[in-house]
Amino acid sequence: MIRSGRHFLQIPGPTNVPDRVLRAMHQPVMDHRSAEFSRLGSEVLEKLRPIFQTSGPVILYPGSGTGAWEAAIVNTLSPGDRVLMFETGHFSNLWRQVAERFGIQVEYVPGNWRRGASAEEAAVRLDADRSHTFKAVMVVHNETSTGVTSCIPEIRHAMAQARHPALLMVDTISSLGSMDYRHDEWEVDVSVAGSQKGLMMPPGLSFNAISERALAANKTATLPRSYWDWQDMLTPNRAGFFPYTPATTLLYGMREALAMLLEEGLRNVFLRHDHHAEATRTAVRTWGLEIVCENPREYSSALTAVLMPEGHNADQLREVILNAFDMSLGAGLSKLAGKVFRIGHLGSFNDLMLAGTLSGVEMGLQLAGVPHSSGGVTAALQYLTATKHEAAALAG
Ligand SMILES: Cc1ncc(COP(=O)(O)O)c(C=O)c1O
Repeated sequence: MIRSGRHFLQIPGPTNVPDRVLRAMHQPVMDHRSAEFSRLGSEVLEKLRPIFQTSGPVILYPGSGTGAWEAAIVNTLSPGDRVLMFETGHFSNLWRQVAERFGIQVEYVPGNWRRGASAEEAAVRLDADRSHTFKAVMVVHNETSTGVTSCIPEIRHAMAQARHPALLMVDTISSLGSMDYRHDEWEVDVSVAGSQKGLMMPPGLSFNAISERALAANKTATLPRSYWDWQDMLTPNRAGFFPYTPATTLLYGMREALAMLLEEGLRNVFLRHDHHAEATRTAVRTWGLEIVCENPREYSSALTAVLMPEGHNADQLREVILNAFDMSLGAGLSKLAGKVFRIGHLGSFNDLMLAGTLSGVEMGLQLAGVPHSSGGVTAALQYLTATKHEAAALAG
């Protein structure tokens, strides 16, 4: 099929990469042991810290988010250790699987995929663990398969109330750089992230932000590790270097993407995402469709997962939209396959891109014969206009 104009990549990651970042990567490959590389590496490692809202080290791997999941586990745990995890959706299931493959015993709090990790449930289980057998509590902050977030400060509070010394490990793969995430203030020990979502980069880089306590645990953890070993990274990182060949070209892009986030200001980045998420939910409600996330306190600002009406298939709708309007929406994953489609509204994104996205969905619903009420796009645009009025009034 011949297409013109830009493809709309509205899956919840990988996200649209800004032209500035693409241009920054359009350079000859450099010597990764040169002084020039040392400056690039140091700058990227330094500027990642404010994005995680940490003053501690951020480890950067050439690898996907799954690799950084593995890194968090192998650097802090020993075979047979117990951990507490929460079933929030497809991605918590996968992280659990990684832990179990390393011989970790996972106590997995069941969930219905429409709610975040329960701090009450965490409190009960941590209180009961008097001999402190749990070595870590592991939570997905923004469950990308459902558009449901978990309140990390509440989980940390439950740990503090129980005076439990377990590490807190959090997957912020689809929230970092789009939703407020505070590694230091929330006392997270290991934050796991990836380049391809809020950081506006192609896939290929992933991260562990680590606390002092995580570094101390690293000294005694005995799971086998080589490629992911933090200690091998930390020493060369001090001079901006890596223990193996880094993804040099991606680092040019990463430097530019970090500059863009810091120029906009994290607060503005988060507000922009909040507004686009609320505008999307306004459209979905007007269409008369159901949002997967049951609790408004747990709405994701990065994506919205939408349930299809009985008897209608989400993958068929996505196909109609792709063919007719050249837009990719996120599929329902594992048990939500065919039942849910996901609208990504994170990363390099603005009001008119959202207007186009929602228009594509509304026209697609009509073309695919999915029962809905019209007017979702209009309602979303009215919401966006109102937020502009408010911002103008505040500015004075
Ligand atoms: C929340 C979350 N965790 C983990 C992953 C796995 O990351 P990757 O596919 O980069 O390995 C993803 C991917 O979408 C994700 O959204």
